[in-house]
Amino acid sequence: MAMSHICSVYDPFPIQIERAKGLYIYSKDGRRYLDSFSGIGVLAFGHGDEDIKRAMIEKMQRYMHISNFFLDEDTEIVAAKLIEKTHRGGKVFFANSGAEANEAALKAIKKLRKGLIVSFEKNFHGRTVATLSLTGFGNLKKPFEPLLPNVVFLPYNDVQAFEEFVRKNGKEIAAVFVECVHGSGGLNVLSHELSRLIMEAKRSFGFLLVADEVQAGLGRTGKFFSYQHFELQPDIITVAKALGGGLPLGATLFLDDIADVFSHSEHGSTFAPNPVALAGARVVLNRLTEEFIELVAKKGEFLRSRLLRMEPRPIDVRGLGLMIGVEVDMDAKLLKQAALENGLLLNIVSNNVVRFLPALNINFEQIEEMVDLFERSLKEAYGRSHVEKVDSSKS
Ligand SMILES: Cc1ncc(COP(=O)(O)O)c(C=O)c1O
Repeated sequence: MAMSHICSVYDPFPIQIERAKGLYIYSKDGRRYLDSFSGIGVLAFGHGDEDIKRAMIEKMQRYMHISNFFLDEDTEIVAAKLIEKTHRGGKVFFANSGAEANEAALKAIKKLRKGLIVSFEKNFHGRTVATLSLTGFGNLKKPFEPLLPNVVFLPYNDVQAFEEFVRKNGKEIAAVFVECVHGSGGLNVLSHELSRLIMEAKRSFGFLLVADEVQAGLGRTGKFFSYQHFELQPDIITVAKALGGGLPLGATLFLDDIADVFSHSEHGSTFAPNPVALAGARVVLNRLTEEFIELVAKKGEFLRSRLLRMEPRPIDVRGLGLMIGVEVDMDAKLLKQAALENGLLLNIVSNNVVRFLPALNINFEQIEEMVDLFERSLKEAYGRSHVEKVDSSKS
């Protein structure tokens, strides 16, 4: 095979995509695959949604890029809608990705407060140098150290460790970053106890609280923002992934008294906000109604209960809404391969956790179909891992 000129940072499925529609991806060799993670949580309304496509095409026929020297009419609409969902006041800075949205948060923190930034083990905030510094994955960071100084990692949901740290260092804390459901870190859910303690400490010491909603936001967990399941009142919220309807768009929301943190030319982007992505965002946000998000919560419960009834029983099923992790006690590579053969595309995080992030408009029958395929694949993979174990014990 010819040498590739692409950096080998990814591990793509061995599928040549012909087209994709709704929940399904169709390959050039005529197979249909169910996409259980919707482009890593980007496609809230599945592949090729007609309303999103129409809005984008209309915009594209007018222009595709205008730069920040012009203001597209959707910018204000999308910003206002995002702020409305917080039930507070604020302003939005648009970016092109989740990492960029978090970079803007970090830059604002640096301007407003000096001191320590607290993050948690298994938080994921991006792969740029600054956002990697906040990411609680030692293996991802190691080759790139030293990263930003003054970042402290506490164990997730360890109430005692948090209390002790705050008791000793409360006055030094500039900001705390939370990811209410760990997307890449294994779908762990923040405890209510820790969320209460974070708010108590915030009231005592006045640090800034950032909710990273890049993956868990925009209806994914059965609330508009995942922090709304908890007692949290963030000062800064970051979103991306599903926002642009499939095109790159991120946003950082600065709330209440820090709304005007950036003054003229203190931050910026050539590309963001792309007007075509904004057209997608307008449709996405209009469709994320309260009723729709309530239905996401119901579908999430249905998915969870169906996964819990599977045979063989997984080690754990966790998450919120349609952001569900299934922990299995086997080689996830075998499981991914068995699923692929059964026409199901799986995403594995933390070595042995299957991350389900299906399109939010998946219907109940499709959830059944997805879990049936998963259950069958799991059985087959267990069979194969047993054969592998027997084989290796013979040699
Ligand atoms: C919670 C969270 N924050 C930030 C990011 C980084 O987003 P991006 O890959 O768009 O830079 C991700 C990406 O998976 C994420 O899940």
